[in-house]
Amino acid sequence: MDFIKAATVDEFIKVSHKVIKLIGRPVGIIKRDDGTYFGIEASCKHQGADLLADYRGGTVAVCPRHQWEYDLESGRCLNHDSLPLKKYEVKLEGNDVLVSMFPIQEEQPLDIDFERLA
Ligand code: FES
Repeated sequence: MDFIKAATVDEFIKVSHKVIKLIGRPVGIIKRDDGTYFGIEASCKHQGADLLADYRGGTVAVCPRHQWEYDLESGRCLNHDSLPLKKYEVKLEGNDVLVSMFPIQEEQPLDIDFERLA
């Protein structure tokens, strides 16, 4: 898997996240309370709003536009039928925070009630 430098560890001293552009798409690099990191798609699946605009830490992000809620660890939307956010592997090399160029490929069971949507 190809990784690129997204940030330095020092950038996360006062903040818990940073949004970068990865192949033109916003990806949030988030530092957990235990000091580990993960990457998550940072645009809302509804209409593409900046999902981390009002994020202040924790495991849930609320979209500022229409309040769809996402579990950031799993990428799942908590209050609407939606595809999950894409997740990205993040690793450290010295003081550098590296993120994978491509999302983690997972078998995502679609938990969408298509009969309700019809
Ligand atoms: S754009 Fe995020 S809930 Fe509508």
